[in-house]
Amino acid sequence: MIIAIDGPAASGKGTLGKRIAAHYSLIHLDTGKLYRAVARDTLAAGARPADECAALAAAEALDVGTLGDPFLMDGRLGEAASIVASHPAVREALLAYQRAFAQRKPGAVLDGRDIGTVICPEANVKLFVTATPEERARRRYLELRKAGNSLSEAEVLADIRRRDERDLNRAAAPLRQAEDAYLLDTTNLDIDAAFKAAIALIDAAMGHAGLAG
Ligand code: C5P
Repeated sequence: MIIAIDGPAASGKGTLGKRIAAHYSLIHLDTGKLYRAVARDTLAAGARPADECAALAAAEALDVGTLGDPFLMDGRLGEAASIVASHPAVREALLAYQRAFAQRKPGAVLDGRDIGTVICPEANVKLFVTATPEERARRRYLELRKAGNSLSEAEVLADIRRRDERDLNRAAAPLRQAEDAYLLDTTNLDIDAAFKAAIALIDAAMGHAGLAG
């Protein structure tokens, strides 16, 4: 069982992915953390995220044991992550880990930008989760403020718009809805309502018996 969740920055896909995985007793991978960790390690090596060789070296040396590092969710790392993620070689270096994760028992939920299109085109269910940039910025701003980050809401919105632009327009695995993905617009839904809507879509797609078995 593989559930693929894609969508733009701060659309709620990470929180949804976690809850969906818990609901169906599946394991969960937030693939954005891989790119955030590569960005962290590239910067720590004194290189710029735009330096493809340095970013590739960081991707090849990535210790996935560090994906729980709270610094990965720092408001300023998203931009660097989207720059390292635009290098085809970096994406290629992270492919095998993601595909192997998707095959683990008892099944997996992966969320990111290219899960339904590139990483797991064979996923049993695909969701494309979105919301307006303003609503995504509002949510991310509140989340970051709670975590002690000092970015303003306008800065968060500008970051989200820049990342959307880069993620949508890059040549390698751009953000796009897979043809067979269900669209879930969470603009007017809180997280509980979005979760319920996601479960209804997944249950309808799979049939209750299929998932329970
Ligand atoms: O999802 P999150 O905002 O943590 O992702 C950070 C950045 O990593 C994104 O802006 C995107 O450029 C990149 N990313 C990607 N492919 C994925 C997951 C994330 O390119 N599967």
